[in-house]
Amino acid sequence: MSGDLYGDPYGTAYLYTKSYQIQNPARPQPRGASASDAYGFTSNASLILSKVLSNTQDFIKLANHQSRFFGEINSLMGTRSTDNTTIDNEEGQAFDSKHINCSQNGIHERLAEIVQKHKTTQFQKPYQSHNLEAFELLREKIRLQTHSSLILDSCCGTAMSTLILAERHPDSLVVGVDQSAARLSKVCDADNQVRTLPDNCLLLRANCEDLWRLCVDHDIHFDSHYILYPNPWPKSVHVKRRWHGHSVMPYLPKIAERTILRSNWLLYLQEFSAAWQQLTGQASEPQQLNITTPLTLFERKYAGSGQALYELSVSLREL
Ligand SMILES: C[S@@+](CC[C@H](N)C(=O)[O-])C[C@H]1O[C@@H](n2cnc3c(N)ncnc32)[C@H](O)[C@@H]1O
Repeated sequence: MSGDLYGDPYGTAYLYTKSYQIQNPARPQPRGASASDAYGFTSNASLILSKVLSNTQDFIKLANHQSRFFGEINSLMGTRSTDNTTIDNEEGQAFDSKHINCSQNGIHERLAEIVQKHKTTQFQKPYQSHNLEAFELLREKIRLQTHSSLILDSCCGTAMSTLILAERHPDSLVVGVDQSAARLSKVCDADNQVRTLPDNCLLLRANCEDLWRLCVDHDIHFDSHYILYPNPWPKSVHVKRRWHGHSVMPYLPKIAERTILRSNWLLYLQEFSAAWQQLTGQASEPQQLNITTPLTLFERKYAGSGQALYELSVSLREL
């Protein structure tokens, strides 16, 4: 049996086994942060781009589905946001990849206050049904599959890192999660080739906000948790959209023994580290990486354009 990709927000199964065809691309995406939001990609920009592409086969293919449309456009064009941050190209094709541009001089002045508030208040947003379904599939896979350890790859995008981790840890169960069906539909390996999932790999379309909470509430505990190149939200006003400023942050130290983040934006990792320390009492510093074998498409792109890349590794402490 090959590995599976699940996560069905609308009751129509997205079941991926040997191939990775989207079953129903015309369905809208659930509400939630998308990469295009994170990088300030506007609907006006999409209209302009739709005109540019209107006579092409690409547009016909893309017009079915707005979020897929955004994703494809981002792949086709290195569109720039208002922050002068190049929109990320999922396929990691070579083009100018600018450094993150942020007006903050250091850790966000309100971060400690925000983390404190989230630490002392209950995150009460109701679970979305497709995330509950994805969680049930995760539980079932864990129950059925023998594994020596559990690895979570959150915001896995096109799952290159999930596949690499599954290959590196054949006795572990590696779970990749992303909210974007468009990205998951392009599951590819380090050579950018679409390929079959190994048995020890599960891909879920789900929002991490819900999945993380469900894992904690149901005592599903991972050995390692990777969050590689999360959407950075560089505008100061968007601090609460960064994972460490998000109301789900207090759940993160409870998910895994070790949490590993990577980013091309050092400040993001420094802020995450500060929030982690506030929650757990444990300090850790981001380290600069020397990339020889990229783990993700974004990593390959950033490293290829000469950007400094950093990793933060933090551990669980009983709370
Ligand atoms: C910048 S991409 C990085 C993808 C991949 N880790 C890589 O390095 O190539 C960020 C990814 O996070 C996903 N994402 C953002 N917010 C999410 C959420 N709340 N739940 C699940 N996935 C999310 C996006 O769909 C996107 O694929």
